[in-house]
Amino acid sequence: SRSMANTKTRLTKKINLNIPIISSNMDTVTESDMAIALARLGGIGIIHRFMTIEDNVEEVKRVKRAQNYIIYEPYCLTEDMTVLEAKNFAAEHSVTGLLVADLSKHLLGLITHRDLIFADDYSLIKHVMKKRENLIVGDNLTGIEEAIGKFAEFKIEKLPLVDKENKIIGLITAGDVFKKIEYPQANIDNKGQLIVGASIGVTGDYLDRAAELIKVGVDVLVVDIAHGHSNLMFRAIKELRDRFGDIQIIAGNIATAQAAKDLCEVGVDGIKIGVGPGTICVTRIVTGCGVPQLSAVMETSRIAKKYGVPVIADGGIQKSGDIVKAIGAGADSVMLGGTLAGAKESPGTVMIRGDKKYKVCRGSASFAIAQRRKKVNQENKNLNEIVPEGVESVVPYKGPISELIGQFVGGLKSGMSYTNSKTIPELQENVKFVRITPAGLRESDAHDLQDIK
Ligand code: XMP
Repeated sequence: SRSMANTKTRLTKKINLNIPIISSNMDTVTESDMAIALARLGGIGIIHRFMTIEDNVEEVKRVKRAQNYIIYEPYCLTEDMTVLEAKNFAAEHSVTGLLVADLSKHLLGLITHRDLIFADDYSLIKHVMKKRENLIVGDNLTGIEEAIGKFAEFKIEKLPLVDKENKIIGLITAGDVFKKIEYPQANIDNKGQLIVGASIGVTGDYLDRAAELIKVGVDVLVVDIAHGHSNLMFRAIKELRDRFGDIQIIAGNIATAQAAKDLCEVGVDGIKIGVGPGTICVTRIVTGCGVPQLSAVMETSRIAKKYGVPVIADGGIQKSGDIVKAIGAGADSVMLGGTLAGAKESPGTVMIRGDKKYKVCRGSASFAIAQRRKKVNQENKNLNEIVPEGVESVVPYKGPISELIGQFVGGLKSGMSYTNSKTIPELQENVKFVRITPAGLRESDAHDLQDIK
């Protein structure tokens, strides 16, 4: 029965996911909003790298701050700031309450959304905040259970934690506690924060970028280049290992058994498969290179399994049935680009043409990305010399990802029940492929129906 299907899988040697779905590190697919939404549903987002290191760090920090057991470094305001400054700060950082402290981090008060709504914009915070003497606080021994008790008893939503000298050591919020209940499938780290990945390249600032991302708690680095079976990739993996020890590293993209073997031997924790299958890819047309994705996944996963390295099937996933086939071919998880680019949580705004809504979707090797990279000083190439291997287009707007992912996971579970598979490893074992003709393909989808307009 599909109700018995367990979709837990391995992203890397050390990281597990509750559902085998990853959002692509494309600039029209994954920034913090997508990463937060998908990690809450049991997958993970990989933040793209076509931005400055500072912006990249902010994106990872936003995901890490989205939920916590305890916020160890809560945002603090000083009491001589104005209400308007506090409102702007709260909006910019998406928080509903802020601690007020002196410069040595002694707790002076708390200001919440409710205190700010009707206050005069130019009043000082010290006149509007709830003062320290009226606050309920906890200490270094306070845990989640005690916090829940205090939220209920005192009808409060924020519990600052202070040491004996009244210095702030943390904050527990009712919002975080509710999120734990609301998103039982969420993939979280040992601090209760959502897990997140970020992509890096193999030249330029990639080592500095990696260092800064690791500092703010990124869980996995995805070394992502168009041709992952290359000397530059091997050099980058070695440098990353030398500098950052056992940080989880996924490398890609590749499409052959030899490439899988070479990457596994160099010591990566996951590999990403796919040269040319993506929605916006034109690599096979422009370069004549690539491998049909089902064959690429079958070949590479057979090798990777021997090394205990999980495989991500990246590109070409449009329907839930494609996930079942990718995993049946040996993948441990799938990466989605174009399919998620139309979601509410993807970067960019919604466009309206006629009576339909769209969002932009573009390849990481498209001309538009070359322009973006030039703008953020990542590349100094003459734009006339660019040979794009990706295109830019629009995809239909699909609303929040929760419904889409629900359908994907439902379809996957049904596929697991058809193949008598309770787990992802069982699905990898149980699937048998049959060769079909164009007639078989035609009958596979809905057909011969009247379009009712
Ligand atoms: P889907 O089919 O999910 O594929 O949209 C997403 C994957 O496509 C890859 N990608 C590219 N491949 N040229 C390519 O040949 C590009 O410009 C490009 N941009 C993204 C990438 O692996 C992504 O996850």
